[in-house]
Amino acid sequence: MQVVSDIQSLRTQIKAWQQQGLTIGFVPTMGNLHQGHLSLVTEAKKRADKIVASIFVNPMQFGAGEDIDNYPRTMAADQAKLIEQGCELLFTPTPDVIYPKGLDKQSFVEVLQVSDGYCGESRPGHFRGVATVVCKLFNLVQPDVACFGLKDYQQVQVIQTMVEDLNMPIDIVPVATKREDSGLAMSSRNGYLTAEEKAAAPVLYQSMQWLAEQIQHNDDFIGLAKQAEAKINAAGLQVDYLNIVHARTLQPASDDDKALVILAAAYCGKARLIDNLQVTINQ
Ligand code: PAF
Repeated sequence: MQVVSDIQSLRTQIKAWQQQGLTIGFVPTMGNLHQGHLSLVTEAKKRADKIVASIFVNPMQFGAGEDIDNYPRTMAADQAKLIEQGCELLFTPTPDVIYPKGLDKQSFVEVLQVSDGYCGESRPGHFRGVATVVCKLFNLVQPDVACFGLKDYQQVQVIQTMVEDLNMPIDIVPVATKREDSGLAMSSRNGYLTAEEKAAAPVLYQSMQWLAEQIQHNDDFIGLAKQAEAKINAAGLQVDYLNIVHARTLQPASDDDKALVILAAAYCGKARLIDNLQVTINQ
């Protein structure tokens, strides 16, 4: 696997592949790779000839109180995992490569509507940072296909909407969430959990599964969501939001909607866990 940190080396390799008529699959990450990320590489490999990954802890998507300096960085282990997975090129830029003028003078991409609410409300500016960096990475890598984990459901909708609204010729592939045996969604942030918190954390997904069953035969979405929230809080987590919404627009679900998603975030000790569950109403 070739590892490059500068734009010129990246573009030279991408151009060489494009001239040979090869297609490019892209997996953008912030590193600290786990099985979830590696499954993105596996999916990309099914769809493209050459696989490019990036590791960049993007300062633009972290809020003022969020601790970017302590975000886990495990570059050597990440590289070994990507080699084993068959990734061909890894882009590891520093912030001054991506934002040479500094964040204040950087033009940005703001995706309307699907960026609002949920994580967009709890983390102001977060999705502007995500959309901007993903747009820049897309322009640098010029992928045919890019894979994103569905654990970050709202992020996938933001990126899909950006690609549609701005006519980017890229196929966005959402990939199913990888889970621990306990049901806990794999996340780099799980590393912040103590043993006791890790034992409590699966209540988040369990309560969402309970909720998914209930809404098949009861359309009191708000009342049921409140009950699920109470179960999660009773187990020692603190719910940030838990909503039943339309799967594509992310607007609050109405009685007629059939394709829904439950979106949730909860604090567990220092970690802010997010998860979601897609539900198709059968009747
Ligand atoms: O999901 C992530 O790890 C990040 O938000 C992404 C898409 C790599 C952009 O920085």
